[in-house]
Amino acid sequence: MTSSDTAILYTHPDRNLAMELVRATEAAAIRAVPFIGRGDKNAADGAAVDAMRAFLGTVNFDGLIVIGEGEKDDAPMLYNGERVGNGRGPACDIAVDPIDGTSLTAAGRQNALSVIAVSDRGTMLDASSVFYMDKLITGGAGRGVVSQDQPIRDNIRELSRATGKPVDEMVVAVLDRPRHAQLIDEIRSAGAGTRLLLDGDVAGGINAARHETRIDMCVGIGGSPEGITTACALKAIGGYMQGRLAPVTASEREKALATGLDVDALLEIDDMVKGDNTFFVATGVTDGGLVDGVRRNGPMIRTESIVLRSRSGTVRRVLADHLAEKWL
Ligand code: FBP
Repeated sequence: MTSSDTAILYTHPDRNLAMELVRATEAAAIRAVPFIGRGDKNAADGAAVDAMRAFLGTVNFDGLIVIGEGEKDDAPMLYNGERVGNGRGPACDIAVDPIDGTSLTAAGRQNALSVIAVSDRGTMLDASSVFYMDKLITGGAGRGVVSQDQPIRDNIRELSRATGKPVDEMVVAVLDRPRHAQLIDEIRSAGAGTRLLLDGDVAGGINAARHETRIDMCVGIGGSPEGITTACALKAIGGYMQGRLAPVTASEREKALATGLDVDALLEIDDMVKGDNTFFVATGVTDGGLVDGVRRNGPMIRTESIVLRSRSGTVRRVLADHLAEKWL
């Protein structure tokens, strides 16, 4: 960015859409609370979906859901292709995940988030026909250093060299799934430690790119919607990410090819979301390393959110107190 661009940014600051979208993730998180630890992940998700959709309807933008709750026939609300917002204001693509970590919520475990990501219309990759993506996420130091085309052992060694952090102090986050057994072995035999995630690789990925955490890298196969959402967040915090779609069956592969997706391509962040105008907002449902979960303080309900904007490179933490009686 040139100094004159910077001057423009500060003399004509435009609107931070995410500061309005945060009301929708706050609402989704609050509405999910009665379902925390109650064993019914669909009920938790349903409550969060209802609340998020209602609040999105009030936001001044013309949002097209690129990543939603699924195809229209299966998802009554927040389905892929649905228009949200009041139709006035900027035309945007939007990814919604009313709860990333529905099982975590139902079990009463940590790290469940309510998430929205937004970018300019036509810039977000529609990868909805492939459920999984193989991901590699680091902080900015990983750019030009790590690659999915090299073994994890080399990525750990090269990132250690670039950051100056000894390999035996490095921590690699990975979803704890049988499909990752070999990857986990390889990370450990390379000399690094693992942070095994029960669920929720959006938070895991963002934490790998943040300076304040112990996690240096997040790898492995997780949801492709979560991958695109994470890419929007990383643009704002200068993180690095690569991904490769990972269809499980031949028919999923065929379906993806038919929609024009290159399932073998190594995707850089710009292939997942183009441009430099992304917004990302997440509110904690349960406590986690990124944000605290919803809690009750007497008559108030407190939420903590993180609000990221790539154009300005700002990271805001939003603590909000909501009068509980308004939510009963
Ligand atoms: P849900 O909240 O939709 O259950 O997703 C949780 C999650 O852990 C994601 O964060 C992750 O990308 C995906 O599921 C991994 O899928 P799977 O559980 O099939 O390995």
